Amino acid sequence: MAKRDDEIKQIPGEESGNGLSRRSFLKIGGLAAAVPVVTGPKIIQVGGEQVEVHGPHAAPITLMVNGKRQTLNVEPRVTLLDALREDLDVTGPKRVCDRGECGACTVLIDGKAVYSCSTLAIDAQGKEIVTIEGLMAGATQLSPVQEAYVQHDASQCGFCTSGFVTATTAFLRDHPNPTHEEMVRNLGGNFCRCGTYGGIREVVQAHAGGKRAATEAAGAVAVKGGF
Ligand code: FES
Ligand code: FES
Repeated sequence: MAKRDDEIKQIPGEESGNGLSRRSFLKIGGLAAAVPVVTGPKIIQVGGEQVEVHGPHAAPITLMVNGKRQTLNVEPRVTLLDALREDLDVTGPKRVCDRGECGACTVLIDGKAVYSCSTLAIDAQGKEIVTIEGLMAGATQLSPVQEAYVQHDASQCGFCTSGFVTATTAFLRDHPNPTHEEMVRNLGGNFCRCGTYGGIREVVQAHAGGKRAATEAAGAVAVKGGF
């Protein structure tokens, strides 16, 4: 009867010069063949233009997250949200709907609020990514917007809060004196299941000097986003 591989004894003199038997060498060679080789993207022509084709295997990418350059290996299908949470341990952005509807995963990319669950990590290369962790005013100091969320009790379970704070930060930077309508339009893509919209509205009003947005909000009826 034929012997199984693991029953075959080492044949004297079979060691190679570096101490590896031929059997060990073959095993290692087989393993090496099973590990996907990471190569650069393929270039194909589409409509007369050169287009990079990545994957399907993991490939190294570099992301600039909260001012730090990070290199990681991800498959091209991996979202920025997954890369942040699973690969880089940046867990401020939350996964709730995972399909671009709730805003819990909001991050800033080049200053613009985006859903990280609907952005490919590979497409975020070369851009400045800022999560709620990167909005802090110091190692232990909250930013003015973060502070205002605390002061105005604009958070309950907190699951939507990091996305809301990130979106609010970009919104107030671009609209220092916002109207209620602008607030609804810009923050209406974030949802709070605990219904903290009153507190969030106060945050915006406080930062806007409590003037235009407050006046208009006073007579506002329920609109998109719950404001
Ligand atoms: S988790 Fe991204 S929009 Fe809901
Ligand atoms: S505070 Fe709970 S979902 Fe918004």
